[in-house]
Amino acid sequence: MLNPGGESSRRVEGLWWLLFWVSLAVFTVVLVLMAFSIVRARRNADDTVDESEPRWASRFIVTTGVVVPFLVLTGVFVVSLADVRALADDPTDNILTVKVTGHMWWWEAEYPNGAVTANEIHIPVGEPVRFELESADVIHSFWIPALGPKRDMIPGQTNTLRLTADEPGRYRGLCAEFCGVQHARMGLYVVADRDYDSWVEHMAEPAELSASAGQDLFTAGSCAGCHAIRGTDADAEVGPDLTHLASRETIGAASYDNTHENLTRFVTNAQSMKPGAVMPPAELTADEVAQVVAYLETLQ
Ligand code: CUA
Repeated sequence: MLNPGGESSRRVEGLWWLLFWVSLAVFTVVLVLMAFSIVRARRNADDTVDESEPRWASRFIVTTGVVVPFLVLTGVFVVSLADVRALADDPTDNILTVKVTGHMWWWEAEYPNGAVTANEIHIPVGEPVRFELESADVIHSFWIPALGPKRDMIPGQTNTLRLTADEPGRYRGLCAEFCGVQHARMGLYVVADRDYDSWVEHMAEPAELSASAGQDLFTAGSCAGCHAIRGTDADAEVGPDLTHLASRETIGAASYDNTHENLTRFVTNAQSMKPGAVMPPAELTADEVAQVVAYLETLQ
């Protein structure tokens, strides 16, 4: 968040520093007053001093406890209104819109050209992108700290968030609203990509058909009950679209590197890597898992 990669996040960073300095000033004043009162109490400890409340005490408490906080908080609120306005999305702008749906516990991304992917959302560099945020189940919150503020994904409602990435790169994102047992492993990447156009064109293409045993096991077996691989008979939408799975760098919602070992373990028993996730252990032999994984690894 303090290493902003775009206009929205620079606004958030500015607000963060404003609150930091205001809080530091208040904290310092409180410490000085505390030190003052401690020293004073020590000095008076042995004396027989008048311990009745001084006349100015209640006025002091009302001023520093009510009036000053009211003025400080109102001031910060007024200053932040300009940022709130600047961060708002203008729905009449004709900009690239990516629909992102939060699921327990992964992210589905749909592009205007029909491309569907999960957990690794590419965007063009230097262009504003509108994220249309929805939820398939419970409340999630979409947050890419280096690119902007977080925004809730609420069932039955569409929220929008506009982000721009100035430089190419992989920006880590996360779910920022507790949504169940695997909330902590509901990560994602937004990838600001110089080759966005060719990437999104490739993502819209169906998978290349293969005459492999792995593909048959996938499409005829339980995998196809939840996942889609466009171009094959597998077209379910319960779990992530796997059409170009091998082109992703991570699996399990950015929880694990997309390596042969991790993918094999995940297909064998996803519960060992994401306990509580919807995906059950595979009803396949080790050989069959190896064939399915070999097939998945061809899905570039
Ligand atoms: Cu989704 Cu927390």
